[in-house]
Amino acid sequence: MTTGAEPQKFLGRVEFKRGLEGAITNETRIGYIDGEKGWLVYRGHNIEDLAEHSTFEETSYLIVYGRLPTRAELARWTDRLVPARPIPGYLIDVLRKLPKEAHPMSALRTAVSILGCHDPLADRADIANCERIGVDLIAKMATITGAVMRIRNGEEPIPPDPKLSHAANFLYMCTGKAPDVLSARVMDANLVLHVDHGMNASTFTAMVIASSLSDLYSAICGGIGSLKGPIHGGANEEVMKMLLEVGAPDKAEAWVRTAIQEKRKIPGFGHRVYKAYDPRAKVLGKFSQRITKLYGQERLYQTAKTIEELVVPALGGKGIFPNVDFYSGTIYYSMGFDYAMYTPIFMVGRIPGQVARVMEYLPDNRIFRPRAVYVGDLNVTYVPIEQRG
Ligand code: ACO
Repeated sequence: MTTGAEPQKFLGRVEFKRGLEGAITNETRIGYIDGEKGWLVYRGHNIEDLAEHSTFEETSYLIVYGRLPTRAELARWTDRLVPARPIPGYLIDVLRKLPKEAHPMSALRTAVSILGCHDPLADRADIANCERIGVDLIAKMATITGAVMRIRNGEEPIPPDPKLSHAANFLYMCTGKAPDVLSARVMDANLVLHVDHGMNASTFTAMVIASSLSDLYSAICGGIGSLKGPIHGGANEEVMKMLLEVGAPDKAEAWVRTAIQEKRKIPGFGHRVYKAYDPRAKVLGKFSQRITKLYGQERLYQTAKTIEELVVPALGGKGIFPNVDFYSGTIYYSMGFDYAMYTPIFMVGRIPGQVARVMEYLPDNRIFRPRAVYVGDLNVTYVPIEQRG
């Protein structure tokens, strides 16, 4: 039972786009995306240059501190990251106790939360403390992911090897073998490509949490939770399921035709910001071709490429192109990763971006607080429970 007022009278007529499309949250110097041109920049550097020439260590420094490090700065940065790689025994014990069927992203989220519970200084919301925790999590995310994968497979976690690069050590902690040069290089470039991407849902989630001056562990837990979703970071897993379902290049045409007819969203395509080719997908497509060949999985690459060649002419006019998640799964699959591990690998790459964006926002922090347009009833009469039937 309602009386009186038009709801809109209370908020006035408000123009808005669902999903905060086009909304501006803050000023930033961290990264730039031109979605019409398919142009992605970290701190002024084009992503293609960084993928070709840089490393995870160098790019994470760039994204957090604003410029490429000198040789001495890179050495000091590495000297902070490497000793921070090992994870404590109490954390490994908790990971061992998680149900086998728990999604690895849930395990990652739990791991960050456990680290936060054990940090007596977690709640100091100043920039120095945020940086301290951030560096620790940048170093540890790879170790946590390796441990989660091995425990899931019924294997012992492998302690980090301080002599290996971040990417090579990550592969070593997952597989137990020091990787070949191409695999280490491709994983390194892959992590670089995932480091940052503007106000995506998970980074924004982390920033929203941190904007209440909550601790960075809570912010990153939220970031992981958001990244897990199948239409965000979880899409790499969905792409791989699709590729295995399609099975072969000659089956792609019928599959794509049906998907388009049924107006299904094809995993690994489309993006809120890019209405052109996602530059990260271009780089990953090339790496996918090389790595699938190395591991004898060429058919996977060819199936993906055929799907791309069918979808782009059909939907490119609507701005639907492959995104970062389209080829990454083919790389991880070839390297032997179970597809539940794909989004955790994304997180190993993304953690510097989330940390940097929280750190950038903190000094001039203002709590995020949007509004919704109320379209519900007003002045509803309270009916006692006995009379409600
Ligand atoms: N396949 C087919 N059509 C698509 C796809 C797709 N993957 N994505 C969008 N479209 C179509 C929509 O049907 C819609 O068409 P319409 O205007 O005729 O109704 C139009 O493109 C706009 O789509 P929206 O869903 O409104 O776009 P939005 O910006 O809200 O969503 C998103 C972007 C979530 C990425 C979407 O494209 C999608 O679900 N893609 C598949 C999942 C995926 O790959 N996600 C990973 C993105 S990258 C990342 O997050 C790391």
